[in-house]
Amino acid sequence: MEEHQKSLKRENFSSGIAVFFATLGSAVGLGNIWRFPYLTGANGGAAFLIVYLICIAFIGIPVMVCEFYIGRKTRKNAVGAFDKIGASKGWKTIGFAGIVSAFLIMFFYSCVAGWVYSYLFRAINGDFAGINPDASGAMFTKTILGPMPPILWQMIVLVVVSLILIAGVQKGIERITKTLMPVLFILIIICDIRAITLPGAAQGFTFLFKPDFSSLTAAGILTALGLAFFKLSLGMGTMMTYGSYFTEDNNLIATSAKVAISDTIVSLLAGIAIFPAVFSFGMKPGAGPGLLFITIPLVFSKIPLGNLLLVAFFFLTSIAATTAMMSLVEVPVAYLTEEKGMNRKKAVITTTAIMAIIGILATLSVDKGSVLGKVSILGKGFFDLFDYISSNILLPVGGLLIAVFVGYFNKKESIVNELSNEGTLKNTKLINIYLLILRFVTPVLLILVFLNSIGLIKI
Ligand code: PFF
Repeated sequence: MEEHQKSLKRENFSSGIAVFFATLGSAVGLGNIWRFPYLTGANGGAAFLIVYLICIAFIGIPVMVCEFYIGRKTRKNAVGAFDKIGASKGWKTIGFAGIVSAFLIMFFYSCVAGWVYSYLFRAINGDFAGINPDASGAMFTKTILGPMPPILWQMIVLVVVSLILIAGVQKGIERITKTLMPVLFILIIICDIRAITLPGAAQGFTFLFKPDFSSLTAAGILTALGLAFFKLSLGMGTMMTYGSYFTEDNNLIATSAKVAISDTIVSLLAGIAIFPAVFSFGMKPGAGPGLLFITIPLVFSKIPLGNLLLVAFFFLTSIAATTAMMSLVEVPVAYLTEEKGMNRKKAVITTTAIMAIIGILATLSVDKGSVLGKVSILGKGFFDLFDYISSNILLPVGGLLIAVFVGYFNKKESIVNELSNEGTLKNTKLINIYLLILRFVTPVLLILVFLNSIGLIKI
């Protein structure tokens, strides 16, 4: 039994391709298809996009490399990794905060994933045939206000994620991501082709690609930073945990760059699928979280065989959400199995049960007319509060600490050794440039964004 547990614990991904798709599966999720478009819409389009790209290049990729470095070097969960790498006790807080973030994100993420699953079901049912903008808006309201249906869908989501995770790293995570990520990519491209041929689509492009800096606020800059962390699943030990399953010969810097670039491409493709349609149907780009749910059914309802494509689209959005949630849940699961000696099945069930119970609060808080919807902490309902604390505070702070830990508290030889796969990659120059950025650019940018967002300085 003990032996069996050990082998399960240290199961790894089987190949470079598996590493890439699993990691991309974590990064690509509701963030690309639901969040990126509506946040870009709400924060001034292309100006926001530019700040976002800077965050990805100078903060996201460097922090991702750090997480892979810690994970693969120690082959441990987000908490145990800090012990194994010889860090003093305090650094473990990063791992614990990561576990808290995994829960906070899952509380609201599983709710939105539930909406996506229910839309898939409706699409299969043919509910969107010939839909107009008003009916589409009404359908979204009906979907999220429940109270019972959104909770049921959320529970279904959590059961699906649990079943995959119980199957293990290779048979669960690897198999699902490797099969379905490429299909998602193809489907988004099909949506794009349709969206850009709609009348009035050009306005959507202007909105997405022509910067208007006057509409970018300090809060918008912090949001871009938070989105970069959320998008790339950083600052909370997810990539550390996945890194601990990487193959020995994986090129960590190259994988980080490939994943970040592919993920950004998927976000842009989602934006291109959505904004031209928004303008074409005379809707507002800053429509908020409903953008995906209201506009996508409209776009597809205009296409020949649209309903079939709509089924495929929501099926693949469900997959994107599911593969991202697998990585979120894996953070506490890896901790519980390795540090607390729980078997994998029990760890998965314990974790998702807690996520289910508190996740219901987030789901019920969406209805502002309900008792829970009226609860306000720091001026936010549960759903928004869980989101704000994790994305805008815990992930960026976690990312800053991870960057400082690796950049200043790890021996250069150890980093060079790991990032060059013990010298086999001959990439010392690149590692040196990386270390310069990690030490002097990443933390400085992160701190500037924070000071700016709390009003202490003005960028
Ligand atoms: N990256 C995922 C998305 O963009 O939807 C969300 C996410 C997954 C955030 C895993 C954090 C995480 F650890």
